[in-house]
Amino acid sequence: MNKRLAGKVALVTGASKGIGAAIALRLADEGALVAVNYSSSKEGADYVVSEIITRGGRAVAVHGNLSEPEEIKSVIDATKKAFGAIDILVNNAGVYEFSPLDSITPEHFHKQFNLNVLGLLLTTQEAVRAFSDKGGSVVNISSGVSTITPPNSAVYTATKGAVDAITMVLSKELAAKKIRVNSVNPGMIATEGVVAAGFHEGDMRTWIESVTPMGRIGTVEEIASVVAFLASEDAAYVTGETLHVTGGLR
Ligand SMILES: NC(=O)c1ccc[n+]([C@@H]2O[C@H](COP(=O)([O-])OP(=O)(O)OC[C@H]3O[C@@H](n4cnc5c(N)ncnc54)[C@H](OP(=O)(O)O)[C@@H]3O)[C@@H](O)[C@H]2O)c1
Repeated sequence: MNKRLAGKVALVTGASKGIGAAIALRLADEGALVAVNYSSSKEGADYVVSEIITRGGRAVAVHGNLSEPEEIKSVIDATKKAFGAIDILVNNAGVYEFSPLDSITPEHFHKQFNLNVLGLLLTTQEAVRAFSDKGGSVVNISSGVSTITPPNSAVYTATKGAVDAITMVLSKELAAKKIRVNSVNPGMIATEGVVAAGFHEGDMRTWIESVTPMGRIGTVEEIASVVAFLASEDAAYVTGETLHVTGGLR
């Protein structure tokens, strides 16, 4: 594989499974040294690290619940301690819960906003302090829902609308530090989280496939390859973008 990320240090949040694990593997395959963040799945993170090492790369597992502001600094410190200054931050950790308006509760709101928005902001704040003066790349994993706006997803979709807005704001704010900030907005991908929510089958799957121009859901690798592009110098003049990887669904 093309080693366009050779020697770059990448932190991927929520990389113990799903899309984050695939991103960690892809960045490592392209030569990056990868910090694999996890919250509860140590086994999953250790597996991702061992897979990277087996393929000839370098990686460490880094624990931290990013919904807890006081745990964020230790994730950045552990990454710096392992590999030095950070070049690439992938804000992938996220939770999704659907609910009709009538059932929305403060708990449902805070669970999603505390990680998907506040956690993403505070992780970016701390990571940017650990970038070198050469700058780098931040890739936020948003979601196709921010433009698709499915019913029963007001809170989750609001978190991803916020992520898109943050991407555009920070792209302007951090350009002077040579840090590019972009979003990747995936369509449905059958990850562990999607399977646990039951979205990978039944009415949700049928509906997604029927409205997706390409007629199918996506794969984790199809998201990871786009993240690798945005993280790399191939995207040197791309910032503030929200790149939809949804098989054409908008
Ligand atoms: N799958 C889709 O169809 C889809 C579509 C659009 C966007 N997305 C977005 O893509 C991202 C990943 O989704 P996924 O489907 O791969 O999810 P997933 O299979 O549920 O995996 C979630 C990952 O996030 C981590 N995580 C959860 N809470 C965390 C916390 N508080 N602190 C740190 N890490 C935490 C988990 O780690 P532990 O297991 O260690 O707790 C796990 O590694 C999310 O931002 C999601 O909104 C997904």
